[in-house]
Amino acid sequence: MATKSKFQAIRGTRDLLPPETALWNHVEQTAHAVFGTFGFGEIRPPVFEPAELFARAVGGDTDIVSKEMYTFEDRPGGLPDPAEMKPSDYLSEIKRAMSSGQLPNDAAVIAQLEFQLENYNLRGDSERGQLIWLYFVRGLRLGESISLRPEATASVCRAYIEHGMQQLPQPVKLYYTGPMFRRERPQKGRYRQFYQIGAEVLGGSDAPAIDAEVIEMVMTFFDRVGLTGVELDINSIGHNAPHCRPAYVEKLRAALEQVKDKLGADSQRRVETNPLRVLDSKLEHEQPIIATLPHIADHLCAECAAHYAAVKRQLELRGVFFKENWRLVRGLDYYMRTTFEVTAKGLGSQNAVCGGGRYDGLVELLGGPPTKGIGFAIGEDRLILSLQESGKGAAPQGRDVYIAWMGERAYAAAIRAAKGLRNAGFSVELPPTELKFGKALERADKLGSRYALILGDNEVSEGSWTLKTLADGTQQEFTEPELLEFLKSVRVSGERS
Ligand code: HAM
Repeated sequence: MATKSKFQAIRGTRDLLPPETALWNHVEQTAHAVFGTFGFGEIRPPVFEPAELFARAVGGDTDIVSKEMYTFEDRPGGLPDPAEMKPSDYLSEIKRAMSSGQLPNDAAVIAQLEFQLENYNLRGDSERGQLIWLYFVRGLRLGESISLRPEATASVCRAYIEHGMQQLPQPVKLYYTGPMFRRERPQKGRYRQFYQIGAEVLGGSDAPAIDAEVIEMVMTFFDRVGLTGVELDINSIGHNAPHCRPAYVEKLRAALEQVKDKLGADSQRRVETNPLRVLDSKLEHEQPIIATLPHIADHLCAECAAHYAAVKRQLELRGVFFKENWRLVRGLDYYMRTTFEVTAKGLGSQNAVCGGGRYDGLVELLGGPPTKGIGFAIGEDRLILSLQESGKGAAPQGRDVYIAWMGERAYAAAIRAAKGLRNAGFSVELPPTELKFGKALERADKLGSRYALILGDNEVSEGSWTLKTLADGTQQEFTEPELLEFLKSVRVSGERS
């Protein structure tokens, strides 16, 4: 039963607990297995990176970067204390720290310090002037800006460049699992710390077969974990050349200008900043208006149109069912050509369990060589919710054997038995203190144990151990070696049935 304590998990974060964690493990094991069969290897990037990496990759104007990142200053120790020196000396110390590499070189910080120093000098060496100076200096961001990762595609591309992976046979196929952080408004299926299982294919060609195989892999995974009501939406958003997406965006903007006064405030703003995002709108009254807007598929350049047609053909070849959704534009800046999303049942408004797409050019944008790229990320929290809603939750984890022991000699035998059984892979509960047999059996029952091994000093001196099946109360006698053999045999027949 939940109790209110002084400390609670921060809003939008939560503890994952047994037995649910067994389902999480099962899902992750399935990802390792399925992705392995497609030739993917696991990468584990750090959970924090320079804020600039995400601003560059995901886009400074996106909601993720502009509103949702957890960013903090990584200030090194050993910096001078501004309260202990003259402001002009402090400025010299900061300049020294920047030139020695202790602090990142930041001309804006120096300009601000110089400006405040001028103000300080104008005020004269007064107590008030000193207070204002200290207030300003202490609020300055001197160290590097670090962000908890809101997604991992940027990290994987950074790692690809950093480790010279372009020298490896291409494409390089990587996958990851782990927590991501976005300061979103929490609701069912939307958390501030959430988990993704993602995969990226970097380098080599942009053959449509690669897009299709990545999508086939994610659908195979969903099938393997037993996700139901799955729907795959695909689209192509073209590429960033004047005769392709930008031309469409202008047509879209012009069409939106005609109906601007009928749109909500968010969409009105987006007509100016990013008309494609208007297509994401879920507002009821905007739907009939959006339905009349031009479709990107009719405005793709010849190469992008051919690529899209080939991706669809490749999906059909693989028996992957999809629905074309011309409004699927996705909220991250790095996408081009293929985009896709998978939705599942039982999730309400947050029903996207996977999003992905092609991002040729992202590695180059981050300072690497021109590189093709495509990938996806599955929202593991939502996947688990959907599995639970459809009755595929994890069963409470019982114990195979509960050892009810009484007496000192019996305890020594119980410890030995527990070791032997655990080594053979059985889950065993060994009570740390002696309990009357009645009480011990009650506990064994509460823990959902299958068997109770009853060990008193008599059983130990006679060498005949009693195993009670808790479901029907029957008892059998075994010698120590027979017991292990018997449990192994019922496990095997249990696995078969
Ligand atoms: P995304 O669409 O931002 O894409 O996220 C992918 C999935 O993560 C979503 O479909 C959703 O299931 C889950 N998700 C996102 N935010 C939350 C949240 N606050 N709470 C719970 N689940 C959430 C990306 O992150 C891209 N990096 C995917 C990608 C990889 N594209 C290419 N490669």
